[in-house]
Amino acid sequence: MNVLVVGGAGYIGSHCVRQLQAAGHRALVLDNLVYGHRAAIAEDVPFFNEDLGNRAAVTKILTEEKIDVVMHFAAYAYVGESVTEPLKYYENNTGNTIQLLLAMQDAGVTKFVFSSTCATYGEPDTLPMVEDLPQAPINPYGQTKLQVEAVLKDLAAVDKMSSAVFRYFNAAGAAEDGSIGEHHDPETHLIPLAIDAATGKRPALKIFGTDYPTPDGTCLRDYVHVDDLSRAHIAVFEQLENPGTFAHYNLGTGKPTSVREILDAVEKVTGMPVPAEEAPRRAGDPPSLYADNTKARTELGWEPKYLDIESTIATAWKWHQSHPDGYPE
Ligand code: UFG
Repeated sequence: MNVLVVGGAGYIGSHCVRQLQAAGHRALVLDNLVYGHRAAIAEDVPFFNEDLGNRAAVTKILTEEKIDVVMHFAAYAYVGESVTEPLKYYENNTGNTIQLLLAMQDAGVTKFVFSSTCATYGEPDTLPMVEDLPQAPINPYGQTKLQVEAVLKDLAAVDKMSSAVFRYFNAAGAAEDGSIGEHHDPETHLIPLAIDAATGKRPALKIFGTDYPTPDGTCLRDYVHVDDLSRAHIAVFEQLENPGTFAHYNLGTGKPTSVREILDAVEKVTGMPVPAEEAPRRAGDPPSLYADNTKARTELGWEPKYLDIESTIATAWKWHQSHPDGYPE
């Protein structure tokens, strides 16, 4: 398949490009490099430095490159910023995705894989989280993802698009060979910050909240390896052959891990203490989020390979050791 990976120079997109190549597909990348890194993409991968909202340019690429499937990873993903700058999020995450879908319609491309998030569920009433829980996001970021899901559902209902929507839990880790990995600017995610605290690159890690109703008082999350996430995107291709598909899956390991357990695991993997201090709760953090991944397992035959958190953190550590400052540019 010819697969256009939109946002392919970002964290999850770049890992997906690798997995697509390994599975024998032709991956092409479209990215405006606002948050993506050119160095995350191999030189032999066709690369288009283009804005998602440029409908005419995107239509031309889709047509000329005979694209079969579009995978869409390009989004702003800072939950806190989405609260203070909502329009930035609605414009890019919702508005530009509509432009992309229009370009696909112009070019006659009907297969779409969309990166959604467990943040569309808001604060779940029951755990682990199944796909048919009510979706009630508590921030604009989650809201933008839910809006796109709604559009895809409406398009599927009239057979205009076959979509697979993946609701990611916490993406973590890096490619097994340490050649690509996580590099956000600014970095807000727990595992890279904990590694940086261990190596002394950043100050002590702040533990946001120690009075949650969880076994050790810190938040529980489901850390799923980025290569496991990527593999699900390819496993879903067969389903996209059916016109009018709207398939949606939680992607998580199903295992909850607390902030303190992450810090312990980082200490074990790196062999260094992680300086940490207790801090107030971060606004908008639900106490516990972890997946019931039965649907992805049974319908896609998806099996996450990284089930223990240390093996995931070991890949992040390998990436960090070979790229202590991340990508060059
Ligand atoms: N945390 C700390 N200290 C830090 C950073 C994080 O204690 O310095 C805690 C957070 O409070 C949270 C956990 O570590 O309990 C994980 O936080 P991350 O920022 O790594 O990830 P989030 O769970 O906040 O966010 C992830 C994705 C978002 C997505 C969200 C869904 O990155 O894109 O899950 O809830 F929206």
